[in-house]
Amino acid sequence: MRVAVLRGPGDVALEERPVPEPGPGQVAVRVISVGVCGSDTHYYDHGRIGRFVVEEPLVLGHEAAGDVAALGPGVTSPAVGQRVSIEPGVPDLTCAQCLAGRYNLCPNMRFFATPPIDGAFAEYVVVHAAFAHPVPDTVSDDAAALLEPLSVGIWACRKGRVTAGSRVLVTGAGPIGLVSVQTALAFGATEVVVSDVNPARLDLARELGATAVVDARTSSVTDLDRPPEVLLECSGHPAATAQAIRSLAPGGRAVLVGMGGDELPLPLSVVQERELELTGTFRYAGTWPTAIALVASGRVDLDRLVTGTYALGRAEEALTAGRRDHLSVKVVVHPQR
Ligand SMILES: NC(=O)c1ccc[n+]([C@@H]2O[C@H](COP(=O)([O-])OP(=O)(O)OC[C@H]3O[C@@H](n4cnc5c(N)ncnc54)[C@H](O)[C@@H]3O)[C@@H](O)[C@H]2O)c1
Ligand SMILES: [Zn+2]
Repeated sequence: MRVAVLRGPGDVALEERPVPEPGPGQVAVRVISVGVCGSDTHYYDHGRIGRFVVEEPLVLGHEAAGDVAALGPGVTSPAVGQRVSIEPGVPDLTCAQCLAGRYNLCPNMRFFATPPIDGAFAEYVVVHAAFAHPVPDTVSDDAAALLEPLSVGIWACRKGRVTAGSRVLVTGAGPIGLVSVQTALAFGATEVVVSDVNPARLDLARELGATAVVDARTSSVTDLDRPPEVLLECSGHPAATAQAIRSLAPGGRAVLVGMGGDELPLPLSVVQERELELTGTFRYAGTWPTAIALVASGRVDLDRLVTGTYALGRAEEALTAGRRDHLSVKVVVHPQR
């Protein structure tokens, strides 16, 4: 099979590799669509993210969907031919965090496209059978791949306890912010304000249901008429994060999804006087059933986010599309092409 391999910073090439065989409890998936994430681009540009360093050639891509090609020993479902969305992080399922239901915090997580685990820019991958989630025909291949970033938004809304009537502020209208907007609305939020510095992304946020937008180049989220109760921080921009925390209502909750600077100046007196709650998020746990239902029912539109599709041989172009085109939001790679 063909795979697109990151051999070093700025160097992706097609290689031939044997089709992987599913082991006990695993399925092989013929990959049809893979979303490009900011982390893929970051590995491509820098060869590392924090403590994760690309030391051996690495296959990128962790937002993937396809159909089941083969079952490993002991596996009875999903059936061969079933369309599935891949949940790309498989925990050990035995440690204290896993047993507490927080498998996203498993120290032994094996996550696609995170060194040394290969990802899905490949014609076939193998994955734990329970992490290949069947999707109905109403969910497109690209949308099935993008259930992964949607899961980040669902997890953020759960951590922020977004519910009927919530007033929500989403900072950053990239793919993560845009799925968070749609999820917050689906969870019943009645005000969803979105800030960004890119007017095209603010237009898209409005199209997807944001009730108001703030151009952070000229306005401040601290000037909103009614202070938000929940912040879903999806820009990773430290100054934007600090300012958004200042905008929260008393008793508000700040969910820090965006990854930017390692350190953040925190407006401590605001956090204390308003009894704000702050949490980080790390990926997600148990989100696929919700993600599938939201997309299948039409409450969340993932296809609208797709601004470009590339064959596997053009994976490098896909990885750099964002820097060439400010209108680019989410590009996907189609490994069978
Ligand atoms: N916590 C997790 O598990 C998790 C998972 C996936 C992604 N992330 C992080 O989420 C963040 C968003 O991901 P993405 O793919 O949407 O990235 P992105 O870079 O496409 O989106 C970030 C957006 O923030 C906007 N922005 C920049 N400065 C701003 C400001 N001052 N105010 C408001 N908006 C501003 C940018 O214009 C951009 O549209 C990234 O930091 C990413 O690393 C976290
Ligand atoms: Zn574990």
